[in-house]
Amino acid sequence: MTITPDVRTCPIDADFDPLSEEYLDDPYAHQNAVRDRGPIFYSPRLDMYVLTRYEDIEAVFRNPSVFSATIQQQPVFDLAPETKKILVEKFTTTAVMSDCDPPMHTRIRALNMKGFSARRIAALEPRVRAKTIELIDRIEPGPVDMVAALSYPLPAFVVSALIGFPEEDADRIKAWCGNRIEFSWGAPSVAEQAEVANNMVSYWEYCQRFVEFRKENPADDFTSYLLAAHRENPESISEYEIANVTFGLSFAGHETTTSLAGSALRRLLSRRQLWEEICADPSLIPGAVEEMLRYDSAVIAWRRRTTREVTVAGVEIPQGATVLLLLGAANHDPSHFHDPEVLDIRRADAKAHLAFGKGIHFCLGAALARVEGRVILEELTKRAPEMTLLPQEFTFPRNISFRGPKQLWVQWPGR
Ligand code: HEM
Repeated sequence: MTITPDVRTCPIDADFDPLSEEYLDDPYAHQNAVRDRGPIFYSPRLDMYVLTRYEDIEAVFRNPSVFSATIQQQPVFDLAPETKKILVEKFTTTAVMSDCDPPMHTRIRALNMKGFSARRIAALEPRVRAKTIELIDRIEPGPVDMVAALSYPLPAFVVSALIGFPEEDADRIKAWCGNRIEFSWGAPSVAEQAEVANNMVSYWEYCQRFVEFRKENPADDFTSYLLAAHRENPESISEYEIANVTFGLSFAGHETTTSLAGSALRRLLSRRQLWEEICADPSLIPGAVEEMLRYDSAVIAWRRRTTREVTVAGVEIPQGATVLLLLGAANHDPSHFHDPEVLDIRRADAKAHLAFGKGIHFCLGAALARVEGRVILEELTKRAPEMTLLPQEFTFPRNISFRGPKQLWVQWPGR
């Protein structure tokens, strides 16, 4: 639906283009500029109301009855009819968490929260560390792309281990899961759409088969936990919903963490003093991870849809409108963070960032993402403190929400 905003109260910014090269190169410069101009504007290019300030964005997150999450996974731009056909016929998923409102969200989330218990995350940490060391040990001296060598495969392994997918399926899963970000949050060509849609179907079918398999072969993993909950009380979650949870989790938990690690390495290695400080004192690492989530997060914009007319920052937003929350602008909002453009690994209030959202949809994997970010930095600073960032042009996935370098070339020590 295209909205006609009330031009008497709502500024319009026809130039705002989050898919332009300049924006992708440095979204913070653009997000800061629009925030400094005002708290809200309408973007005709996106057909969205865009919010820029911390307080307003936090208030939206905390008001799920007016700002519905159901839009979350819907493609930002309309898909081609051929793509829609593939999805309608074979992609028979349903919303279970990130794109679902109460009361269904409340039911599924409550169960998932128990599954993501501190015990399960703590039990995963030694596996996260062992895999990190294994991947690091494979790196040869010389130039190396740390995304391909470490920050892509590690979170893929971790989320698969959490769900319980067999390790030997990793390559198949990897092949199916590529390019999802640009598919849903970017503007892919028709050929790209068809490829991703077919992969999504294959992966969805795999998730359903896997749940069937786990029914007969339970193990100590998240899927078995959900199946046990279903057996105990079939009303709590259905097998179909469990397959949907596994499908959603593997996406939510993978490339976000890849991006966190990639951005952290980029930012810390390019500020040598900070890198040396965390090498000398690893107790600074948790703070560095938190600051990285604020300073250069994996999710820089997120969407909601209004369930009724509502006034935000003096602007009337109609029912059914899409609202884009500029998380990057919020995390760099000077009315909330002192000197927001300074990357300060000792920042006391870094944790107040909105990188994981707020309220009922607050990222379920936040604790796990923090563990992965911390373990990666702990092991790299211990094993390769002399590593240096190579001169390079960074590229980023062309989309409005997710951000992280596609490659990150470093000189690995030893030669
Ligand atoms: C740096 C890493 C990550 C970032 C920046 C991130 C960010 C986010 C954001 C912004 C949301 C939406 C919050 C909202 O709509 O209010 C979210 C939701 C979610 N995340 Fe993450 N995430 C990360 C890692 C993970 C990991 C590792 C997992 C799981 C293994 C995960 C699972 C989820 C799930 C299941 C939801 C939906 C929760 C719900 O709707 O109740 N995320 N995340």
